[in-house]
Amino acid sequence: MHNTDWSRRSIVKAGAAGAAGSLLLPNVTLGQPGASAPSAVRVARPIDANTRLRIGIIGCGGRGTGAAVQALRADPNSELVCMADVFSDRLNSCYENVLRAMNPDAPEEAKLEELKSDRVNVPPQSRFVGFDSYQKVIDSDVDVVLLTSYPAFRPAHLKAAIEAGKHVFAEKPVAVDAPGIRSVLESAALAKQKNLAILVGFCWRFHGGMKAVFDQVLGGTIGDIVTAHTTYYTSTLSKRTRKPEWSDIEFQMRNWWHFNWISGDHIVEQAVHSVDRLAWCFNDKMPTKVITLGGRAARSGPESGDVFDHFSAVYEYDDGRRGFHSCRQIDGCPSDNTDYIYGTKGRATVNGWVPTLECKDPSGKMLWNFPKETKVLDMYQSEHNELFKSIRAGKPINDCVRGTNSTMMAIMARMAAYTGQTVSWEQAMNSKEVLGPSSLTLAEYPAGPVPIPGKTKFF
Ligand SMILES: NC(=O)c1ccc[n+]([C@@H]2O[C@H](COP(=O)([O-])OP(=O)(O)OC[C@H]3O[C@@H](n4cnc5c(N)ncnc54)[C@H](O)[C@@H]3O)[C@@H](O)[C@H]2O)c1
Repeated sequence: MHNTDWSRRSIVKAGAAGAAGSLLLPNVTLGQPGASAPSAVRVARPIDANTRLRIGIIGCGGRGTGAAVQALRADPNSELVCMADVFSDRLNSCYENVLRAMNPDAPEEAKLEELKSDRVNVPPQSRFVGFDSYQKVIDSDVDVVLLTSYPAFRPAHLKAAIEAGKHVFAEKPVAVDAPGIRSVLESAALAKQKNLAILVGFCWRFHGGMKAVFDQVLGGTIGDIVTAHTTYYTSTLSKRTRKPEWSDIEFQMRNWWHFNWISGDHIVEQAVHSVDRLAWCFNDKMPTKVITLGGRAARSGPESGDVFDHFSAVYEYDDGRRGFHSCRQIDGCPSDNTDYIYGTKGRATVNGWVPTLECKDPSGKMLWNFPKETKVLDMYQSEHNELFKSIRAGKPINDCVRGTNSTMMAIMARMAAYTGQTVSWEQAMNSKEVLGPSSLTLAEYPAGPVPIPGKTKFF
């Protein structure tokens, strides 16, 4: 599996990207206009208090299903009208699960054909399957698209949605490589021009308790922020044994978390939530450089792909501060998802899982805490409520630059870990490395090799 030279393959792909015209590679560079004239004029249809909002999903898995239900609950005058997925089994189960969620009183044994909802109107001809299915949703008369497929495809899907004048919910991370990041920044700017929403699924930013503790942290309760260390320690994610009928690409997509070109590795796919919280600690100031230790100690077998299982990143800022992030996906080790934040007058401990959301002085005396028993709205629901409220109000939310910066922080840490080099923000932003195949079909595409710090080159 791992007999190709990683860095050479990256160069070849980067060179071929423009010519391939693939779905995956947006082929846009920083500073160029993001859209041709026709797409620049495709704006959202006018929406007022009575408009029935039409929603489409692209990527009908776990988050797509959740996001569809949350979107429908966020706005009572909305309906799901079309769906897209590469795989029909995923699309069908999503359709059924959304329909069941919109029929909370139906008995569990109720058959699919017995379930009805005037909020779920997706006839078979509006359920699209395949790599080009996203475009069919975008070309339909939807107002809002939910981009919940794999990270590798987000830049291309976002570009197409914004060019077509659609409001967007985009799951994190927004890209897996720098060309993807540059494309997303262009889409973010075009969305601003067209008054379109893009809400990126950094859901902790919408969690009531988390917002309250970060208001304290950034409001001076623990003084000026000196440093922070965020962690995301968890076990390894699902693995699916290869079926004989699966091509390489189908096998990799069914095990997508473990393949760098699809997920961006777990620091970008999963721990990016905690990288985003590190960014939040520093009031969204971006670092100038990063050095990262990382490796693969406990992964084996083809389902484990080519990703690392641990990273530890040290970010440096232009004011001399440092910020730290460590993450691990290894079974049999303790889990933790805490931000340890240190200021000139105390420290904050922030953990949404427990939850612990508190500020203490240096002696350990509590300065502020968010009581554990306080009920807060589910953060996924909260983000959709804010998105739909902003669309209805004609003031669409666009937090895409912030979400893109946090994603880039995670990508640059991965680049530093894979190469073993210190990587500056500028180098990372200008990287030419394009991950993944240059055209998308369910074809053969050998994975890897696993990067080796000191040998793997930076591009
Ligand atoms: N915010 C959060 O807390 C959170 C939680 C889980 C997942 N996520 C993010 O949501 C995204 C999806 O994760 P998931 O857990 O739902 O994965 P999943 O595998 O359950 O679902 C993804 C779906 O997208 C489909 N898909 C992949 N590529 C596609 C393409 N090109 N066109 C159309 N469909 C395509 C897949 O077939 C699959 O059904 C990821 O970016 C992940 O990081 C966010």
